[in-house]
This record gives sequence, structure tokens and C-alpha cells, in this order.
Amino acid sequence: MLSKLEDAYGHQLFDFLRGKSQGLEIVERDDGFIQANLGPRTYLSDYKDWSDREKVALRLAKGNVIDIGCGGGRHSLYLQQKKGLQVLGVDVSPLAIRVCMLRGLKNTRVMSIEQLTSRLGRFDTVLMLGNNFGLFHNPTEAKKLLKNFWQMTNPGARIMAESLDPYKTQDPFHLAYHELNKRRRRMPGQVRIRIRYKKYCTPWFDYLLVSKQEMKEILHNTGWKLKRFLSAKRLEFPSRGQPYVAILERD
Ligand SMILES: C[S@@+](CC[C@H](N)C(=O)[O-])C[C@H]1O[C@@H](n2cnc3c(N)ncnc32)[C@H](O)[C@@H]1O
Repeated sequence: MLSKLEDAYGHQLFDFLRGKSQGLEIVERDDGFIQANLGPRTYLSDYKDWSDREKVALRLAKGNVIDIGCGGGRHSLYLQQKKGLQVLGVDVSPLAIRVCMLRGLKNTRVMSIEQLTSRLGRFDTVLMLGNNFGLFHNPTEAKKLLKNFWQMTNPGARIMAESLDPYKTQDPFHLAYHELNKRRRRMPGQVRIRIRYKKYCTPWFDYLLVSKQEMKEILHNTGWKLKRFLSAKRLEFPSRGQPYVAILERD
């Protein structure tokens, strides 16, 4: 469980929900690179503002759903309210889960991805949107957790996992970081980051960004196979990489 001072994700969401912040998120990488993005604004945004790939992924959601790293609960709430699905929102941030409850999400748990077990139920859809394939941390942990998800799901289940192809960038700082990671024997897109907000700061954690080919290699022997990729039509500028959603199916 995150301490209050470590719950930077939760505090930025809670303040933005109450109109007490501009909705920026500060991401610090372990090579000193710092980037501000529209984190809380995105995590509390409405359906009309979402990408086509997110909308298609949500259209394919069915049955009993678990939303891992649900943040402010935007995807969970959409599926609960608009599609009438049973949804469990899970997040390691206690305050993010409080935001979800305040916004009307019925089923929530403060838990990290590593703590999930079939005791929570059996699921038909696993949501990992908002780049949350990253929560797998590294390829070894990804394989272990994917095998665990197999145990927690029903035949025909799907995982909707969003990632960012880190190689689709020209930014010299990102390219140098890939080289640094290779020297450290890490995957080039295995970014070590922490999130800062006011005096709150998460612990350092590894967030895994992978190309489509790397994702396919990670899936090998996990019980999950690729059904299709939903890709972004345009790259963001300046580009950190190309976002896409992978629809994975249980073997
Ligand atoms: C990039 S945000 C995405 C939020 C949401 N999926 C969305 O798209 O709006 C990542 C979320 O994952 C949560 N998180 C980070 N590490 C986690 C972990 N190990 N287990 C579960 N959730 C985690 C954070 O607290 C944060 O709310």
C-alpha cells in the first residue's frame, strides 16, 4: 500500500476533480529527463475526448471486467454506466480509488497488479488502457503476470492492453535512454520513472514500453495470443513513440 506522501497519482487526481489544480503530471525518469503531461486531465476525461483505439477496445469489452490501474475510473465508469457491465476497478493508489468511488464506481479495490488472484473472481475482460501494459514492469514479470491472468479469466477472455512503441521517436534524449538501457541489459523501453505532484512522489518503478514485435515475443507461452492491434493514426508531436492497443485472447 502506498503511503500518503507516495500517493502522487491519487493527489493529482483528487485535486483536479475538485478543481484545485491545472491537471498536469510530472514524470521524472532515472536519467534526469523530466516531462509534464496532461495526466489527470486525461484520466478524468470524457468518452468524446478518447482515441478511436480506446473506443474500439471498449466496444469489444464483455462480461465481468477488471480494470487494472484504473486511475480515476473513466473506462470502468463508461462500461458500468453505458454498457451495464460488472466492473472491478483496481489501483495501487488509495486516493485514486476514492476518486473512483466518489464518481460512482461500485466495485473497487486498492491493490497492486502483483497482488491480483482468482479470489477476486473470474473475468472475461482485463483492461490495461492508458499505457498500462507498462505496469508489467519488465518482460519476466510480464510473462508471470500474464500466466496469472490466465488463471483469473474465463475461456474466451480478452486483455485490452495499451502500450507505446518507444522506437517511433527521433528525440535524442529518448534514443540515448534506449542505449543506456541496452548497456544496463534492460529492454530499451523499460523506463524507470517516478511521478511527482507538489510534495508527493511515488517510489521509483519500471514501466515497460514495447514495440508490437516485442509484445508478441512476451506473449509466447503465456496462454495469451494476439488477436489484433489498434494503432494510432498520427504520432504525437514531439513524439515519445507510437501508441497502440493490443487485443489479446486467451488460448
Ligand atoms: C497512466 S495511469 C492510467 C489510468 C487509467 N487506466 C486511465 O487510462 O485513465 C496509471 C495508473 O496505474 C496505477 N498504478 C501504478 N502502479 C500500479 C501497480 N503496480 N498496480 C496497480 N496500479 C498501479 C496508478 O496509480 C495510476 O492510477
